[in-house]
Amino acid sequence: MFAVRVHQKIELAVDIVSLILVPEDGRILPPHAAGAHIDLQLPNCMLRQYSLCRAYTGGQDLEIAILRDPAGRGGSACAHRDVEVGSRLLVGAPRNLFPLVPAARSVLLAGGIGITPILAMAEELHGQGREFELHYCARSADRAAYRDELGRAAFAERVRLHFDDAPASPRFDAARALGAPAADRHLYVCGPEGFIRHVLQVAADLGWDPACIHFEHFSGAAAPAPDDGAFELRLARRGIRVPVPVGVSAAQALLDHGIEIALSCEQGVCGACVLPVLEGIPEHRDVFLSSAEKAANRCFTPCCSRAATPHLLIDL
Ligand code: FES
Repeated sequence: MFAVRVHQKIELAVDIVSLILVPEDGRILPPHAAGAHIDLQLPNCMLRQYSLCRAYTGGQDLEIAILRDPAGRGGSACAHRDVEVGSRLLVGAPRNLFPLVPAARSVLLAGGIGITPILAMAEELHGQGREFELHYCARSADRAAYRDELGRAAFAERVRLHFDDAPASPRFDAARALGAPAADRHLYVCGPEGFIRHVLQVAADLGWDPACIHFEHFSGAAAPAPDDGAFELRLARRGIRVPVPVGVSAAQALLDHGIEIALSCEQGVCGACVLPVLEGIPEHRDVFLSSAEKAANRCFTPCCSRAATPHLLIDL
């Protein structure tokens, strides 16, 4: 990670602020493609992932936007409350788990704060002269970050805004926005889980090829359930067994036994913690692994997933 200073903090919309971060040591950042995100360590030491809002060809600024989530675990509230212009924060190098693929035409769908990577994608596609259409859904206009900017953008005629509380605003019709599937049309969707689920269902009903569908959640794993059972992790290389009690994540159980593992989002979103599974069946609760990876049961995310068998043998 490297240190950045907050160069600018702007209220973009109700409960949404943008931060422009500049490396403290003056370093020039390598180019990153649209869809990239950074890990950001907040003043309360929480580590969170935020999509970068700009298509970027290299330079110093990193722009993110953060929605305050009153039901969250304190990361967004800390960002809104404690981060100010001049604050020093630590960030990780940009990583991209949501890249654009070359296609003749793209459909970009954003729900709420899901606009952040989608805005960068629109800028990148426009810069490349590619065909696309962007649909942006929000509860109300005053909760839609970058709304005015999208209205002024060089690609404004490609943007459709859908606000729940505005009678004059066209209602979002996922089937119409997606249209008929084609091998050279790709779909990118980012937003709340319910929004993504709805869009994916409509895409499946229309016959879209899963290979043409790309999505990114910004909140992840299902909360622990009261009927979660205990299970055991067997560490193949160390030859030890680690019980995972009810109410404790597999990751926490490993850490409690002094076993270091990589952790970042702790919500099943980022994939930082993925461990190889040699035996047993995980109960996957993340949104990082693909359906095929989950069905293969050869890896799991210990930050949130559990086991459907009494033990999992992991390559650790
Ligand atoms: S820490 Fe991010 S998926 Fe587990």
